[in-house]
Amino acid sequence: MIQKIKIIKTIIIIIFSLTFSFSANAQTVEEIIKGRKAMFSENYQNAKKISILLKSKRIEEAKPLMKKISDNYIKLLDYFPENAKEGFKTGALPSIWENKDEFNALMKKASDDMIKLAKVIDTAEDLRAAQKELMWSNCSACHSKFRAPH
Ligand code: HEC
Repeated sequence: MIQKIKIIKTIIIIIFSLTFSFSANAQTVEEIIKGRKAMFSENYQNAKKISILLKSKRIEEAKPLMKKISDNYIKLLDYFPENAKEGFKTGALPSIWENKDEFNALMKKASDDMIKLAKVIDTAEDLRAAQKELMWSNCSACHSKFRAPH
């Protein structure tokens, strides 16, 4: 009886570790590059929606989109591994991997600024200026150094 339980336990452990190692390696380079492009595109769409909403002072509707952009930036930190430098029409420049700390810091700042924007937007006098400072300026700051001209 004890013997049987031990065997079953071992089998369960093997199955679990196999599933884990498969899922850990599940993302191919293609999935990574296409995945990050999709997240940047989604952020762009949401940034445009935010601008439109704020123009008509629909602040509460814009806030969840700000949170979504912020979350995407955090996820994006994991989408620039060493093996995903080229291919699949990436617009990512090699300078990312040569300056990884600076790149990650910009990504983190862009994420933090979206949370800040959601906080200050209630009381901001100039909604456009707040968006420019805490949202749009971070796009160009990063693209000018880390994204190929398009
Ligand atoms: C910290 C760096 C960084 C920030 C901040 C950033 N981007 Fe990007 N963006 C990139 C990089 C790098 C790429 C190229 C990704 C690739 O092609 O692999 C990119 C690509 C894109 C793309 C093209 C996606 C595609 O389908 O090829 C769009 C659109 C975009 N960014 C919009 C924005 C907008 C809008 C903002 C600000 C709201 C922003 N990005 C902020 C680094 C950044």
